[in-house]
Amino acid sequence: MNQTAQSPDKTITLAFTGASGAPYGLRLLECLLAADYTVYLLISSAARVVLATEHGLKLPSGPQAAHSALVEHLGCSADKLVVCGKEDWFSPVASGSAAPKQMVICPCSAGSVAAIAHGMSDNLIERAADVVIKERGQLLLVVRETPFSTIHLENMLKLSQLGATIMPAAPGFYHQPSSIDDLIDFIVARVLDHLGIHQGLIPRWGYDSRSM
Ligand SMILES: Cc1cc2nc3c(=O)[nH]c(=O)nc-3n(C[C@H](O)[C@H](O)[C@H](O)COP(=O)(O)O)c2cc1C
Repeated sequence: MNQTAQSPDKTITLAFTGASGAPYGLRLLECLLAADYTVYLLISSAARVVLATEHGLKLPSGPQAAHSALVEHLGCSADKLVVCGKEDWFSPVASGSAAPKQMVICPCSAGSVAAIAHGMSDNLIERAADVVIKERGQLLLVVRETPFSTIHLENMLKLSQLGATIMPAAPGFYHQPSSIDDLIDFIVARVLDHLGIHQGLIPRWGYDSRSM
């Protein structure tokens, strides 16, 4: 898998799954849209439960209604955000001939890690990840669980060996966070760094904020 692959057309697939950490996903979505990316957004049923629980955001299950709710919530422009249904097999992300070369699952549940590691492709999130792996694109998984079982670790090892990047949702503290938003930005900044997207959220190690 090509770790530095970048979509020349600035398209990316982003999936929210049902792990804790919905605010990471929302912030990442906001940053990708601000960077002028077209985002194909996939949301699992469990992710909608987590979004409501952790963020108070109740997203409708229909893609069009979810799109409208997100545009209103984020105050973003509607045209760069494409919300895909769970079984929208005709979405570009479902085929290697059209899918963006980069995909992030943030947050990523242990269940989705397992399904992707075994090539299940039983919903559009799993299929889109399967496509990125087979096309040797860039797949980032922001996994959240604690503790990790041997099953989780084996599945993550398998995906890592296939070229996926496992980014645990475990923020550092060396930037001296003073708010939850600072912790969220730490993780989102690392994801953006890996995608090759300029970010001004957190200085890179060895640089101070004036040199960003
Ligand atoms: C509020 C809430 C928090 C959860 N947190 C986690 C978590 O941190 N990690 C995890 O692997 N699963 C977590 N789960 C369980 C997953 O949502 C569940 O396994 C689900 O089947 C995952 O499906 P998905 O990967 O299709 O979204 C959580 C569920 C809820 C409702």
